[in-house]
Amino acid sequence: MADRKKVNLPYLYEKYHKGEPITMLTCYDFPTAYLQEQAGIEMILVGDSLAMTMLGYETTLPATMEDMIRHAQAVRRGSAMSWLIGDMPYMTYQPSTESAIRNAGRFMAEAGCDAVKLEGGREMVDRMAGIIAAGIPCMGHLGLTPQSATSIGGYKVQGKDAARAARIVEDAKILEEAGAYSILLEMVPDRVCQLITERAHIPIISLGSGPHASGQLLIYHDMFGLYPRFKPKMAKVYGNAGEVILNGLKQYVQEVQNNAFPQPEHWFTLKDEAYNELLDLLKD
Ligand code: KIV
Repeated sequence: MADRKKVNLPYLYEKYHKGEPITMLTCYDFPTAYLQEQAGIEMILVGDSLAMTMLGYETTLPATMEDMIRHAQAVRRGSAMSWLIGDMPYMTYQPSTESAIRNAGRFMAEAGCDAVKLEGGREMVDRMAGIIAAGIPCMGHLGLTPQSATSIGGYKVQGKDAARAARIVEDAKILEEAGAYSILLEMVPDRVCQLITERAHIPIISLGSGPHASGQLLIYHDMFGLYPRFKPKMAKVYGNAGEVILNGLKQYVQEVQNNAFPQPEHWFTLKDEAYNELLDLLKD
């Protein structure tokens, strides 16, 4: 994909208007970003899920701005062409619009992000409007919003009854009217996602919310068997990299223990002349 062009808002809207699905994945590090760039992934989210996938916490809440910036910088170094989205971590935008603008600005200035994402509907619309007024594209995130998992009843499908579904549909409209360039719907029923997509004038991205959206997102670690604790239903596994790595590690342990590694091609040699000189030097 050497001839890739930089993904920008006109590119994303052109795809959206043509009805061509947009590709999006999470990513947290340089080598993975490099691979995603080669594969042509269009939108990359440096999600606060890195607290779980990369740092081993049980939830996303411990992710800090410093963690997010550090990882977003690494991803940007691996993928210059994707539309790079920094995920606003817990309590970096909830306290005030000013905190939201300042932290969104850090993603842009320090990590070279193209946009930010924040969780929440009408209750966060002031924060989103402030970020957009500061000239920073902002993506909404509705449905299962992991930062408020305790208040929405856990990591469950959201909008399963008419009243709750209606609230998500209304929230999507409120975020669009506030200027969101796109909205991510995580774990809402397919028909609710379809209704929102049909009513929206911006790309709606589905994570476990069915096919009737403008694009799809998956969590990279779930796609390749790299998250050891669980595999969500919505994740399709495209390969078991975790198993490949584990087999390699076991083989390495055996080979070192059996003196089968290293072989001559894995070490460096000293010419006889230099070696003899060295022995002479050491005599004194
Ligand atoms: O942090 C993240 O990866 C996310 C996705 C779950 C959408 O926000």
